Amino acid sequence: MPDTGLTNSAIINAYMARTPGSAALHRRALASLPSGIAHDSRWVKPWPLYCERGAGAWKWDVDGNRLLDLFGGHGSHLLGHCPPAVVEATIEQMRRGSQFAAGTPLEVEWAALVQELVPCAERVRFTASGTEATHMAVRLARAFTGRRKILRFHRHYHGWHDAMAFGVDGHFDGTPTPGVPEAVAEGVRLLPPNDIAAVEAALAADRDIAAVILEPLGATSGLVPFRPDVLHALRELTRAYGVLLILDEVVTGFRIAPGGAQQARGVEADLCTLAKVLAGGMPGGAVAGRAEILEALDFEASARKGREKIKHPGTYNANPVSAAAGIAMLRAVRDEDACGRANRAGEAMRAALNAVLAEEGVPWAVYGEFSFFFFFTNPQGLAIDPLRFDAFALPPEAFAPDPRKSLLQKLHLGLVVHGVDPMGHRGGILSAVHGEEEIATAAAALRATLRALRAEGEL
Ligand SMILES: Cc1ncc(COP(=O)(O)O)c(C=O)c1O
Repeated sequence: MPDTGLTNSAIINAYMARTPGSAALHRRALASLPSGIAHDSRWVKPWPLYCERGAGAWKWDVDGNRLLDLFGGHGSHLLGHCPPAVVEATIEQMRRGSQFAAGTPLEVEWAALVQELVPCAERVRFTASGTEATHMAVRLARAFTGRRKILRFHRHYHGWHDAMAFGVDGHFDGTPTPGVPEAVAEGVRLLPPNDIAAVEAALAADRDIAAVILEPLGATSGLVPFRPDVLHALRELTRAYGVLLILDEVVTGFRIAPGGAQQARGVEADLCTLAKVLAGGMPGGAVAGRAEILEALDFEASARKGREKIKHPGTYNANPVSAAAGIAMLRAVRDEDACGRANRAGEAMRAALNAVLAEEGVPWAVYGEFSFFFFFTNPQGLAIDPLRFDAFALPPEAFAPDPRKSLLQKLHLGLVVHGVDPMGHRGGILSAVHGEEEIATAAAALRATLRALRAEGEL
């Protein structure tokens, strides 16, 4: 199928007709950017959207299409696009300077807010991204325990550095993806989620495991739900084996509750990783946790203990512009019930979309917790009722990717054609500024898309 030619799908044709500007930019981008993009999850055929502006729950592509944003800046926009306090703080700091190669009052205040909100945060070290945060968290864990390996779960995503690159979309046998040394892969134990007996067996058999790292709600913030009782059992088990528990709160932190999953699930980590909401939509991350673990980054403490310090420079660590945005964001988290508002929007969205599925007689479900929702497209044809669907009752295998690529592509593009930009075909993320109008827009878009899918024989 030529990318610019008409297809026999009315959905894809409508997408192409609506997005000629994105098509032109994509053709140009292909000359310089692999696949014409800068982040894998923005890739879609025939071409991705290129956007140029956002306001609140909405964004505009280069063709002037107004889209309901359910991608949420990859999870960073807890307050939607351009929240005034964050914008003002960012601009003001740009005027004052964006880099001093020195500490700033901002980073001190930013860290204090993290400490105030996040249960395990006795100490905080800022990084430039979530990937850098998980990279440092596992290094800290190895240094603290003197052990070499980490244990993580199938499909849980922790950024793209070597130790995290495989076992996410494939390579569940632990073999490395291209460019990752086998020696690194050998230092990682991969297990299916929700199987506490398997974790216990692994920890008992291998005393070289330094840490268990996981996304506390499950892969992709609950796309494959991780049971809270298993999370609690994991806390006990890791403690019993002297293994550190690292909660990757890059998405859940400051989103599902001010104190992230640690607060929402009532479990305290040894270390947690933060990014996204942390920096108010600007680049930034952090690793936070027990003081005695983060001491390995401290010049004096390392010298006192006669240990070699972990080196950690980083030009953009605690960048003042990100710090200014982050402080404004975290104040809204602390003082304005931003998490509660986003969570209630998520609940209302799931209910509205499930009502559409039920009314249209489509045997799918919309599930998720807090401000997330996911489409269960039911490739195995399970007998389910969208209004009574319980994702925790199904085994992780039930959430294996739907092999019907054309259905998923058209689900995604159909929603865009009807004015909604979802998180690909997987679902979406709500913010504190998604209200009734936005939920009605999404419900109408889903209804129209389902009807179009049915007309094309995809349902
Ligand atoms: C759970 C989780 N951890 C880590 C990362 C990596 O963060 P970043 O994209 O800032 O490197 C992500 C990014 O989506 C994530 O979702």
